[in-house]
Amino acid sequence: MDRTRPLRARGLQASAEKAKKFPESSVNENIMRLPIRCAAHRRVLMVGMFLGLLSLVMISLPLIETKTRKPVEWVVDPNHKKLVHEYVHKVLEGPCRPSGTRQSLLTQFPASGHVIQPFLWKDKPLPDDLFLYPPPFGFRGLESKIANLLKLFSAPQPEKTPGKCQRCLVLGNGGILKGLELGSVFDRFDILIRLNSGPLGEFTVDVGNRTSIRMSYPEGTPLHWVDTDPHTLFVAVVYKRVDISWISAMINKLAVPLWDWLFFWQKVPDQIPLEPSRFRLLNPHVIRQTALDLLKYPPPRPRLWGWDQNVPTLGVSALNLASLLCDEVSLAGFGYNLSQQEAPLHYYDHLPMSAMLQEKMHNVDRETQLLQSLVRAGTITDLTGGIHCTFCKS
Ligand SMILES: *[C@@H]1O[C@H](CO)[C@@H](O)[C@H](O)[C@H]1NC(C)=O
Ligand SMILES: *[C@@H]1O[C@H](CO)[C@@H](O)[C@H](O)[C@H]1NC(C)=O
Repeated sequence: MDRTRPLRARGLQASAEKAKKFPESSVNENIMRLPIRCAAHRRVLMVGMFLGLLSLVMISLPLIETKTRKPVEWVVDPNHKKLVHEYVHKVLEGPCRPSGTRQSLLTQFPASGHVIQPFLWKDKPLPDDLFLYPPPFGFRGLESKIANLLKLFSAPQPEKTPGKCQRCLVLGNGGILKGLELGSVFDRFDILIRLNSGPLGEFTVDVGNRTSIRMSYPEGTPLHWVDTDPHTLFVAVVYKRVDISWISAMINKLAVPLWDWLFFWQKVPDQIPLEPSRFRLLNPHVIRQTALDLLKYPPPRPRLWGWDQNVPTLGVSALNLASLLCDEVSLAGFGYNLSQQEAPLHYYDHLPMSAMLQEKMHNVDRETQLLQSLVRAGTITDLTGGIHCTFCKS
């Protein structure tokens, strides 16, 4: 699960981003196509706008409430902390099976068998089925935009280091990381994948200071870049059309076109201080495979109103990506401890878990089931135990 998106975003994206994902069917887009030909249309539009406003008000109510809450006091049980540290060391020192996680995924989900490349590269032909669905599942209708964007990327580079058995850690942003002081042990993983704006700075004692990959979409990306690791790659995820022009502005170190700002549901960074060669474009097949083959969601279809809850969170998509890049995959900072309702939601803020809003875009229960089954099967390890705790005393 991706606990990375700020709360405001979680709520607002339901009303704002739905307008962007399937633009042909959205109310917002209709407003831009004025004048409207007949009164019937106008009436439908008014009702739509009213419902839109109503849902915005309903979404903001819990936000107002949470702002007045006191910060969560958070104390970690020293015995629990000791158990977690012992477990992480055990994982790091345990056997590393070459392609272990990927092989195990294939056994459980044979449909995910077709080979996919994790990133898209310049001068590498794109398969036709990449254009079957709109973002984030594909690039339907975006052929020329993608062709232009890919010109900015480098020629194909090796995606997997041959020889050494590599361990990946996908670090979620969950409050379950707070106070466990696992930072220096996390830094020992070969590849450390961070999600969205997950900060370092004062939190490095809990989350480490290396970043091999930061994976994000525009609105999730830190407004002020936080990674100091010279090896950091930025993996861009396209959720909507306008994300493509943002990525190209970031690589080219150009301003984001003024018009594009209208389509983001919260402020996006206006620069990423990385060399062009450090940008990667996530192959939408990684998300599509996560949705269709791992989570077994029905194929995406356009909708007039609301979400199908068929978009995997960035966290589960990152796990699928990690299985392509590494041999063994571990998670940390995912899920939460059910016996601690007042636990912090994120490791970097003071919002309590109870502030979590109803998820509109993602099916969190389905994702949790998937992750639990993968931990139980030994496909992945859950270092902090929020998904399925293998080291907790029952
Ligand atoms: C992380 O911290 C260690 C120990 O303080 C230091 O040696 C290393 O250079 C730091 N790495 C980064 C990327 O900041
Ligand atoms: C949840 O919290 C309780 C109480 O602090 C602790 O005993 C238990 O080990 C925790 N479990 C996880 C998975 O963190």
